[in-house]
Amino acid sequence: MSELFKPGKIGLIELKNRFVRSATAEVLATDDGRVTERYFKAYEQLAKGGAGLIIPGNYYVHRMGRAIARIVLVNKDDVIGELKGVVDMMHKHGAKAVAQLNHGGRQCDPKILGATPIGPSAVRDKLSMVKPRAMTEREIEETIAAYGEGARRAKEGGFDGVQIHAAHGYLINEFLSGYTNRRTDRWGGSLEKRMRFLISVYEAIRSAVGRDYPILIKINSEDFVKGGFTLEQCITVCKRLEELGIAAIEVSGGIAEKGLVTIKGDVPMDLVLKNRSFIERFLMKFIEKSMREAARFEEAYFLPQAAAVKKNVKVPVIAVGGMRRRATMERALESGQADFISLCRPFIRQPNLVNLMQKKDGDPITCTSCNRCSIEMLVHYKPMRCYAADAPK
Ligand SMILES: Cc1cc2nc3c(=O)[nH]c(=O)nc-3n(C[C@H](O)[C@H](O)[C@H](O)COP(=O)(O)O)c2cc1C
Repeated sequence: MSELFKPGKIGLIELKNRFVRSATAEVLATDDGRVTERYFKAYEQLAKGGAGLIIPGNYYVHRMGRAIARIVLVNKDDVIGELKGVVDMMHKHGAKAVAQLNHGGRQCDPKILGATPIGPSAVRDKLSMVKPRAMTEREIEETIAAYGEGARRAKEGGFDGVQIHAAHGYLINEFLSGYTNRRTDRWGGSLEKRMRFLISVYEAIRSAVGRDYPILIKINSEDFVKGGFTLEQCITVCKRLEELGIAAIEVSGGIAEKGLVTIKGDVPMDLVLKNRSFIERFLMKFIEKSMREAARFEEAYFLPQAAAVKKNVKVPVIAVGGMRRRATMERALESGQADFISLCRPFIRQPNLVNLMQKKDGDPITCTSCNRCSIEMLVHYKPMRCYAADAPK
């Protein structure tokens, strides 16, 4: 049997295969972050599609953490019943479910927040031009507590575990990174101090969910900006998290300001330039070449970083980023570079791709990483679906 279809384990979670549906901001909730019928149906399709683990995402733990529109908010207990309906359904179809918890930090859209975004320091995002406000000590403590409460709600909603989102330039990543964290108090400076926020979030979650409940993390291997988080720092943080009891580590990379580094592939300029002012269009055209360069697709583009983390920890490592061909995925597992294979864009186009891979030989994935979904969903807040010209009906 292919390694891909052998059962696996993440903490207490028993998984029927090695496929993970990586967290995906679906833009299917209501404006105030509640679960909808359409949201439920999207997860029903995914759960029937065969992935062992599904990570809906990301759930915002605090109103000030909403990076984009129509994502589920887990800041109130009313959401628990709605989550339970979705998780019970996923379990019925044999999929396990982990809730990703996030706070968008300086990468929040001010129009969605109705306020200036917050971050560790007032460092302007060079792409969106948004300058956040530095968080007060009280805001930091309140946000840490919100992660704990969000995790408790996810657990009461039936989720098998939670995943801390510490990647892609959002709040936790901003604290970890010397580029976005310029604080001189106990939350900034040395790596030890920059990781205090993440460790405090982990501890708040652990005390809310109890000793054995699986807590996973998605972390940047590198920010790819000067002065940012590095692979060496990532490994140090992962080793610390392992000592504390993290259940699995998903290894990603990139921050929004660097363009489509997290989601390598094409840069659909028609969508990127849509609804932009004349000045913005002019500036974007200016950086188009470097954006395309940074986003150039290579298969399994963060696998070397996942393998480097794996060499340093014993907990399962999840590889994400451009995993497309069966042979590449199998080799990653067989060679011990990773324990699980996580995909996002291919599942948007083909929610049933695991069943397809199990039933047929060859490579059924038809996603070309054109990134039309990425820009439509993450920039124009359109609902989750494939937006390629040849999108399946
Ligand atoms: C539309 C879209 C939404 C995403 N939302 C999230 C998210 O909520 N949380 C997260 O950790 N990553 C998110 N990602 C990143 C993916 O989980 C994944 O890391 C990335 O797309 C690379 O995997 P792929 O090549 O299989 O698409 C998103 C990506 C896309 C395209």
